[in-house]
Amino acid sequence: MLDRSAALQFWPFAEQGVIYLNHGSFGAVPKPVHAAQQALQQQLYANPMDFLTGPHTELMSANRLHIAALTQADPQGLVLLSGATEGVNTVFSSLQAHGHFKPGDEILITSHGYNACNNVAREVAQRTGAKIVEVQLPFPIEDAAQIRTLISAAVTDKTKLAMIDHISSIQAAIYPIADIVADMKAKGVPVLVDGAHALGQVPLNLTALDADFYTGNCHKWFCAPVGAGFLSIAPRWREVMRPLILSHGYNDPAPQPSRLLKMFGWTGTKDYSAQFVLRETSAFFDTLMPGGLESVRINNCALVREGAQIIEDELGWQRTVPDSMSGTMISFLMPPGDAALLKQRLRQELNMVTQIIVNGWNNQSVLRISAHAYNQRGDYEKLAAALKQQLPQI
Ligand SMILES: Cc1ncc(COP(=O)(O)O)c(C=O)c1O
Repeated sequence: MLDRSAALQFWPFAEQGVIYLNHGSFGAVPKPVHAAQQALQQQLYANPMDFLTGPHTELMSANRLHIAALTQADPQGLVLLSGATEGVNTVFSSLQAHGHFKPGDEILITSHGYNACNNVAREVAQRTGAKIVEVQLPFPIEDAAQIRTLISAAVTDKTKLAMIDHISSIQAAIYPIADIVADMKAKGVPVLVDGAHALGQVPLNLTALDADFYTGNCHKWFCAPVGAGFLSIAPRWREVMRPLILSHGYNDPAPQPSRLLKMFGWTGTKDYSAQFVLRETSAFFDTLMPGGLESVRINNCALVREGAQIIEDELGWQRTVPDSMSGTMISFLMPPGDAALLKQRLRQELNMVTQIIVNGWNNQSVLRISAHAYNQRGDYEKLAAALKQQLPQI
């Protein structure tokens, strides 16, 4: 078993007296990982010339290969970038520049899709004359088949790209992504998977999944510093993809690595340190318990279910997604009331960081609880007690 009280010391929350129940939004970096990042920043600022013309290339390559191994992706097609938003923008802007979208074409997104990412699709549709087809998905969700069927039924012979979440944000639902990708492949529709929440919440095998594009974050459930993500590109698209910021890699004559890796490996002078401590992040999980990240992940899935059960028992709220579609975060639809005030009171008066998405779904607010290594059963008991006390007052 994971020793959760011992794990808590590796995050800054105990000193702050904060109960942190929203790992899902921005992750949270363990102190040893942050220290490793700061050591690299120290080197960068001590001598920028030596650092950026020296260890930079090796660090980029080693960390990139590490994430390719963790996600079981083809290392020749996996690049590091700042996060899933950048990954989605990269794919859309490259496809647009390649002339992939024509007037009347359709881009399939879903009503559960992350707003920032759906906006990218909307903008590219507007620029190219393509049409957005937004599949209306249900919430609460009955089962995975319901999601798969609705998405598949929305494809037409004009669909040029489908952007599908692996794990949706507000609903905290793990989609049947392998089935959805297989359906799209059978219909000849390229798929961009938004896997922002996946690494560290579900096991990944991107080679077996074989989506056209899969983007994800290292700074959420994997606990890397903010600004670390990846994009895995299927071989058929590697000639077409360009980083949002083009730099020297574009015409670098060096025979190795590939042009794709050279273009994504340097996108201007900046602080890449978040992407350079990904091996240290894995090593940190190995110190927490045997089995490292995968064992911690399994423990977190169990804890968040315990937490959800406490909320159900104490408040009578219903879970919105079947267990088979839940990972390390779980959402509830909340009763009417001033959810913004509640969120503020939990933070300011009770020192609890929760994710309450005000009017997050059809004018109903959503409470999403998370579990990571630093959380304890008592955190959810305190949250339930606080909700019970506060709800009648809002
Ligand atoms: C489903 C989903 N996609 C994309 C993102 C964007 O991630 P980032 O802001 O780290 O790029 C998020 C962030 O919460 C998300 O939940």
